Amino acid sequence: MSVGAAIRARFPIFGHTTYANSCSQGALSVDVREAYEDYLAGWDERGSEWEHWVERAETARAAFARLVGASAEEVAVTTSVSQGVSGLVSALPLERGRDRIVISEFEFPTVGQISHAQELRGAEVVHVRPEADGRIPLERFSDAIDERTALVCCTAVSYRTGYRLDVAEVARLAHEHGALCLADSYQAAGALPLDVGSLGVDLLTAGTVKYLLASSGLAFMYVRRELHERLLPTQTGWFADEDIFRMDISDYSPASTARRFDAGTPPVPNIFAGLAGMGIVEQAGVPAIEAHVRGLVDRLLAGLDELGATVATPRGEGERGPLVCVTSTDAPRLVEALAAERIVTSERDWNLRISLHLYNVDEDVDRILEALAGHRDLLS
Ligand SMILES: Cc1ncc(COP(=O)(O)O)c(C=O)c1O
Repeated sequence: MSVGAAIRARFPIFGHTTYANSCSQGALSVDVREAYEDYLAGWDERGSEWEHWVERAETARAAFARLVGASAEEVAVTTSVSQGVSGLVSALPLERGRDRIVISEFEFPTVGQISHAQELRGAEVVHVRPEADGRIPLERFSDAIDERTALVCCTAVSYRTGYRLDVAEVARLAHEHGALCLADSYQAAGALPLDVGSLGVDLLTAGTVKYLLASSGLAFMYVRRELHERLLPTQTGWFADEDIFRMDISDYSPASTARRFDAGTPPVPNIFAGLAGMGIVEQAGVPAIEAHVRGLVDRLLAGLDELGATVATPRGEGERGPLVCVTSTDAPRLVEALAAERIVTSERDWNLRISLHLYNVDEDVDRILEALAGHRDLLS
């Protein structure tokens, strides 16, 4: 049995809907629902379970670490990508001569906005723009990065087009000039293998809302071990302290590990859910998920070609992941029309976004294609 067929029964939505929107939010599993109930039951029965909750947060740290091939000391548990990235930039001196932040045009708004907020501290933000074909050639990064660059922000898979970037090469270019490289991997985590060692990145962040199959309010940031001492966040909180329960207000003494990028009280309910969602992904195995989804994406692309649709996602091997974007004359209307047929998708930039995950099967792809054939007028 394929990964999809085996896992599907744990996601009730498939009983009545074709769900192809994991790029926005992963589908709800019975496992995640039970995890929330478990959290509530413990709260009901035992009142505050602080020790257990802190233990769960550490278990989540270890699970994130396994996901990206890091050690737990190299992982901060955050409530969002925004929190991690804000903490990171707060740790950059952005001194004259090293005051530039390079961002790709495919960054999620939060990364772009946080970068531009640093202009208030004297930073300069440089954008790396894609070609008309949706690719960002490495030369574009190479042209933008220089000795003044403090940080290069790139995104592993574009939420706008599904384009998968060669993160390892961008990290190499950043290092050639003594800059740090951050990979926003939200659209990849849980769908594509991520190994910080082979990517060579300094920082990597993602959250649990999408392919990690949980809900909002939980994310993480990998921080390469060698950087811990050097990166001193000024945006912080008591759970980032070296001794959380000393409750000391006399100084700032952050943890010596990546935990210095944690902040306040851990998002306990989200951690329960996140562990359940990540458990499903870990059990299936990311390489098996990637292989399964590649088959579905190939089937989808072949069907889209037959329909004469324009696919905005670059086609090359290694240039795409679980998200396929299709150009539409009116993407919001197309999403609505599909929703009326109980097919859940989303849209960005005038593209219909179809994203596939471990629980999807060939029949989902065929249903989507059949529905699109009925709305040919909304495809460009
Ligand atoms: C690539 C990417 N980065 C970041 C985010 C979200 O960031 P945050 O956790 O700060 O809401 C998303 C999606 O919501 C995303 O697709």
